Amino acid sequence: MTRVPLGCDKNRRLRRQDSSQYRNEVWRRHPSSHTSDFCHNAAHAAFCQGLLLPTSHLFRYTSGMIVTIDGPAGSGKSTIARELAAALGIAWLDTGATYRAMTFKALRDGVDMNNHLALTKMAREVDIRLVTDDAGRLSVMLDGEDVTREIRTKEVTDNAHFIARAQGVRDVLVDLQRRIGAEMGDFVTEGRDQGSVVFPDADVKFFLDARPSIRARRRYEQMTAAGETVDYESILSDVLKRDHLDRNRPNAPLVKPAGAVVIDTSDKTIAQVTSELLEYVEDRR
Ligand code: C5P
Repeated sequence: MTRVPLGCDKNRRLRRQDSSQYRNEVWRRHPSSHTSDFCHNAAHAAFCQGLLLPTSHLFRYTSGMIVTIDGPAGSGKSTIARELAAALGIAWLDTGATYRAMTFKALRDGVDMNNHLALTKMAREVDIRLVTDDAGRLSVMLDGEDVTREIRTKEVTDNAHFIARAQGVRDVLVDLQRRIGAEMGDFVTEGRDQGSVVFPDADVKFFLDARPSIRARRRYEQMTAAGETVDYESILSDVLKRDHLDRNRPNAPLVKPAGAVVIDTSDKTIAQVTSELLEYVEDRR
């Protein structure tokens, strides 16, 4: 893994993008700011665990390459982001997992999904950590509890849009994602707003898309492979509904970020898309 040592002055993007206003925001919302475990391998974990610095420090000193991948459900962005990060030997950030963890928490605690104040209060109090093991497997910790499996249920998927449209929750999660990114240094991040809102100055931005029928087919195959009994037509209608909600919400809707390379993954294998992205990244390194 390429790592620029602490103190190196390469973090132009984050400083330019956020300035002191953002750092103050982080401290206001997270006065007891912690360092999460989201490290790509043991060496990186050791590095990050040594990074128990104030967030302002992280923003001043963390450096690295940021690659964003945005796109609709089923476009392949999670798998591709993971593969690309592995090929580059850098970390990977699944921002959907943070929205899912919040959704799970709200459902379990019975928080009214239409009450943005209550959702924001919950978001400010909860502790979400993303932990990646040596094999690249992601665990999602919610207030110390492993909820990796629970956040992937249909109920969570169907309710994530309530969380995604609550601006106060988004603010908390955007802070969290930026802090995680700042600690990671070099990373590939995927979601709906990574190139447009969270890391607008990323080095390389991608927007992955695919025909809805293909995206639904992928999801169907994933779910049947996991032993679930599912119906293709209802998955297709869920995919279309999520597209509509993600693209039309007022806050940080799913858009092609300015300057993003658009790739249609419909008729390509994971390996083909990964090597295509890798070429773009290597060109700009
Ligand atoms: O990517 P994933 O399917 O896990 O995301 C779950 C939901 O979280 C999405 O449908 C979307 O509503 C929301 N999300 C978001 N912004 C992100 C990532 C996910 O609004 N960056």
